Amino acid sequence: MLRIFGITVGLLLGSSIQAERIENFVLLDQHGEAHNLYYHREKSAVVIMIQGNGCPIVRNALTDFKALRDTYADQGVHFMMLNANLQDQRSTILAEAEKFGIDMPILHDETQLIGESLNLVRTAEVLVINPKTWQITYRGPINDRQVYERQKAEASKHFAADAIASALANQPVAVASRDTMGCLINFAQRNVDHAQISYTETIAPILQEKCVICHTEGGLGPWAMSSYEMVRGFSPMMREVIRTKRMPPWHADPHIGTWKNDKSLSVEQAQTLVHWIEAGAPRGDGEDPLQGLAIAQAEWPLGEPDLILEMPEYTIPASGVVDYKFPRLANPLEQAVWVKAATVIPGNREVVHHILAGSIDATTAQAKRNSGVFDNYLIGYAPGNETNIFPQDTGVYIAPGGEYTFQLHYTPIGREVVDASRIGLYFHDKQPGNFYRQSVVIDPTIEIPANEARHAEVAYYEFDKPALLHDLVPHSHYRGVASKFELMGPDGSRETVLSVPNYDFNWQRTYTFMEPKRIEPGSRLVHTTWYDNSAANPGNPDPSRTVPWGLQSWDEMLYGAFSYTLVDETSEAPVLDKALADTTQMVGFLDKDMDGKLSWQELPGRIKKRLIQGFKMVDSNADGGLDIQELYSMSQRSRESKGDNASTGAGSE
Ligand code: HEC
Repeated sequence: MLRIFGITVGLLLGSSIQAERIENFVLLDQHGEAHNLYYHREKSAVVIMIQGNGCPIVRNALTDFKALRDTYADQGVHFMMLNANLQDQRSTILAEAEKFGIDMPILHDETQLIGESLNLVRTAEVLVINPKTWQITYRGPINDRQVYERQKAEASKHFAADAIASALANQPVAVASRDTMGCLINFAQRNVDHAQISYTETIAPILQEKCVICHTEGGLGPWAMSSYEMVRGFSPMMREVIRTKRMPPWHADPHIGTWKNDKSLSVEQAQTLVHWIEAGAPRGDGEDPLQGLAIAQAEWPLGEPDLILEMPEYTIPASGVVDYKFPRLANPLEQAVWVKAATVIPGNREVVHHILAGSIDATTAQAKRNSGVFDNYLIGYAPGNETNIFPQDTGVYIAPGGEYTFQLHYTPIGREVVDASRIGLYFHDKQPGNFYRQSVVIDPTIEIPANEARHAEVAYYEFDKPALLHDLVPHSHYRGVASKFELMGPDGSRETVLSVPNYDFNWQRTYTFMEPKRIEPGSRLVHTTWYDNSAANPGNPDPSRTVPWGLQSWDEMLYGAFSYTLVDETSEAPVLDKALADTTQMVGFLDKDMDGKLSWQELPGRIKKRLIQGFKMVDSNADGGLDIQELYSMSQRSRESKGDNASTGAGSE
């Protein structure tokens, strides 16, 4: 009924009969934040203005566009801008936004693939989108105020506002499309004949480099890129996962840092793949490099391990939630070892979500053993991250005694399966030059308010000695949507060293720096995670719940693991004081105002209780707060008086 009406109106007014549908995409904006168009499916309309630096029409339309946004702000209309200009970069877009007061996201279409698919021609065009059908109900100028080199004081026709009003009233739009005045966009590859792209020489090699490791028989990917026919069949789906940045599973912002294990597609590779798919995925001439290609997967890629740790057999049910498993194995060795590498072989690649492996020293307090924190971290396995080789001439020292501990997370796959995973350790023949160390920026006191769409939690770890930072692992659960690590100098300067703007719980990635990052004493590693506890987050188990810390995925974590070496440490002369490191970790999450000391308000109840009388005494420099050194001295004193080695560290109580 409605559709017939729509067609009639369309015919009468001479506009196109079928409004075009906008396909989903994920783009990063001028600040590096990710935007997924279809996230806004509950909005009453989505409005996008095409922006371009240096275009006078765009600049002159900004006031009108902002006014439009303010008018519809409380009616569930979502406003964004999109820049598909060949010549604009994130930094120049940011500068333009600052100069012209653009206080909304400008999505940067770096590959121009989204702009091409939207048939953009000029900037200043406004798209009004109906999120119920994802149809573009209006495209054209915002109003009639501007023509080239001239503008009226007031618009007399308000095309975009009319289209939004129609959308809100569930009415068809009177005129669905108008010519836009704006600056022509150079789509450099629009008139190139993409049917000439060679499957044999260009496409198959990209897939081999970036995809086939998983998309192979028996691999982790659900289908194998085993021939041209398979690739062609899945090609529309490949286009979709590239546009939405789901594949390949590598989620670091490409503009920040360079990574040894970078698995992402370059801008050119993404363009080539999508253009080839849009040209109909032509076969062309030449052999099929993927035909009969078998990835030789050595059972132990580094050779036979020195020690194999066998996990118990677990039966994973067909569906439901499987509690984390925390198996332990007594250390079977009677001599100390220096581990130089570790490999995880999942028993069943389909169900093993992730495995963390490490060890706990014999001297560690029982309480800490149950906290999910390791003394000696070895490897975090996730699909695509099977092996951890520590930097040259470093090792993880494991004393005799103690136990190996693990955290296993399984995800059911629709049929019952049994998993028995194994972890292989490789030892140095002789003592390496230095310790390879790992720690975590953690906050077990987090609280994520119900229904909040972008809640941030922050903690830091302050280095008291020069260090080299080797890798970073952001970790949160279903509500975690973005994560960032910054280095903050003693002068307060900040440098982002890793940003994961569209964090995906399915992929527990380790990001390894191409060159280790040097950290000076007094600098902090600041870790922020943003959580989406709203109903719009499709992965959210329960938006109505205030979410606390917890190991299970319906709870949350602020957990940023990092590996480092201390510059002045050698394996002969260790300088790391573990009790001090524990105190440092604790201050890093209790110090909410980040002034380097804990005020009375910031102190947790258990310490407050102990210090009702003694706060002034512990605060030896009398600055009204307890810093790391003061808290550490206090814990040392209580340790001595108790005559044991109980720790005051994070997670120990
Ligand atoms: C690290 C392993 C890995 C790599 C590398 C990888 N994939 Fe995947 N891929 C997967 C897994 C696992 C899934 C299933 C994901 C899911 O169900 O959430 C998947 C799903 C897909 C799907 C969706 C299939 C479907 O219908 O669910 C497509 C298409 C795809 N991958 C294409 C690619 C392309 C193209 C590349 C390379 C540019 C690539 N993948 C690289 C592991 C990988």
